[in-house]
Amino acid sequence: MADARPSHAPHWWRDAVIYQVYPRSFADGDGDGTGDLAGVRARLPYLAELGVDAVWFTPWYVSPLVDGGYDVADYRTVDPAFGTLAEAEKLIAEARELGIRTIVDIVPNHVSDQHAWFRAALAAGPGSPERALFHFRPGRGEHGELPPNDWPSQFAGPTWTRVPDGEWYLHLFTPEQPDLNWSHPVVRQEHEDVLRFWFERGVAGVRIDSAALLAKDPALPDFVEGVDPHPYIDQDELHDIYRAWRRIADEYDGVFVGEVWLPDAERFARYLRPDELHTAFNFSFLACPWEADRLRRSIDDTLAEHAPVGAPATWVLCNHDVTRTVTRYGREDTAFDFATKTYATPTDLALGTRRARAAALLTLALPGSAYLYQGEELGLPEADIPPDRIQDPMHFRSRGTDPGRDGCRVPLPWSADAPHCGFGSDTEPWLPQPEGWAHYAVDRQSADPTSMLALYRQALRMRGSLPGFGDGPLTWLDAPDGVLAFARGDGLRCLVNLSAEVVELPEHTEVLLSSGPLDGEGERLPQDTAVWLVPAPSA
Ligand code: GLC
Repeated sequence: MADARPSHAPHWWRDAVIYQVYPRSFADGDGDGTGDLAGVRARLPYLAELGVDAVWFTPWYVSPLVDGGYDVADYRTVDPAFGTLAEAEKLIAEARELGIRTIVDIVPNHVSDQHAWFRAALAAGPGSPERALFHFRPGRGEHGELPPNDWPSQFAGPTWTRVPDGEWYLHLFTPEQPDLNWSHPVVRQEHEDVLRFWFERGVAGVRIDSAALLAKDPALPDFVEGVDPHPYIDQDELHDIYRAWRRIADEYDGVFVGEVWLPDAERFARYLRPDELHTAFNFSFLACPWEADRLRRSIDDTLAEHAPVGAPATWVLCNHDVTRTVTRYGREDTAFDFATKTYATPTDLALGTRRARAAALLTLALPGSAYLYQGEELGLPEADIPPDRIQDPMHFRSRGTDPGRDGCRVPLPWSADAPHCGFGSDTEPWLPQPEGWAHYAVDRQSADPTSMLALYRQALRMRGSLPGFGDGPLTWLDAPDGVLAFARGDGLRCLVNLSAEVVELPEHTEVLLSSGPLDGEGERLPQDTAVWLVPAPSA
């Protein structure tokens, strides 16, 4: 079958645009209020028209959905709420026909407490081989009533839970997500088999959840601030695990993207050595406020840390764990007031949207691959979820002080005039869509050449067809304070105005695309606007 972008085929992942589907909220094919694979299959033409190279699916496996599917009960079966394995296979094949590759999400750090292994471990009792697959320990204190150590949780709350026979088990996330013991050969073997299972089904890549957390110091020592190495983040043993995984991926031409949250650039890059992971998410860019200096530093640091290992950078503006981009950039001040559960300053969505549009052009012009979280192409804001509809365990474990992540996981609006904006049927979706959601609907935006969707479609089309984008060098150009200006291959230029002033554009022969209207006769770049242009020959 022909590749949609043949010249990109062997190293497609070095400059791909990868769309993230959160299946529960993308499109509901069977009308029960929960998104599913039938919904995705029906919308594949939408993704093809958008112009993405691959789709990463957050977990679709059998799961009690305590943590949105990141609590996997069976890695080889699709949850009936989403469909069947046969349907997943069809989806992978149909997407490929349209030139779209599939990336699945593997969750190796923990399983669901409903996974057969954990149920067997509970039943088998202390000292059993079944318990050895997890981290079971006696407690501290006179009667073992205290947890075995003091590790802080990735979510708020304790990391240990006591079972009726008195032992405790470790869970870096919720108690329903017991951590696996990665020193155990059976755990390693099982995951290698799971990788093969999905590569055999035609997936092109695997996203590795919580990739830097799997290995633990076997002594499970208390956590001491500032002491290296950390007892469960970035343990050296991980590199061994990923080298073994890489050998498997290479058999299938598969690629990895690791979820690696590490502040230390050098340690981060170790995961991207040629015999380890192909790529990892770059979260420093996402965490940057809308400030030229900070963004430029993040871009420079990112490129510098990837260069020695030869790995391409990835650019992420949003995902299912963070606040939607237009809302984030619409807040001058991100301080959250826990007492009133509001932000210190109101969100200016018009401002946030202008910046998100500019950020889209900035991101898509950078060297490397880019991730696009579903709904970002519609400019969806973070939704307020009524307290009685909140689902995210992060919210409950923080005792309500953290708003949780549901606000970025609201079912997509497809048709402005259909019930629930055409998400599925007239069944109420699993998370409520806020008032005004119809304004963002795909059909409405498709008809509006100034919409966010129209901008993304144009930008992706250009990025896929003009040779200057993707892999390759980036050269910073002189620009006024607060303006990011750089050249890419083939004379392509990107300018982003984050200053408080309108600035003159350099001489150019053509403006390829701009994120908003230009000033004057098109020779000045307004605030919070980005432009792609071809410079005049002398410029
Ligand atoms: C990752 C996922 C997040 C999940 C967590 C636990 O960070 O992105 O959604 O809650 O891992 O698996």
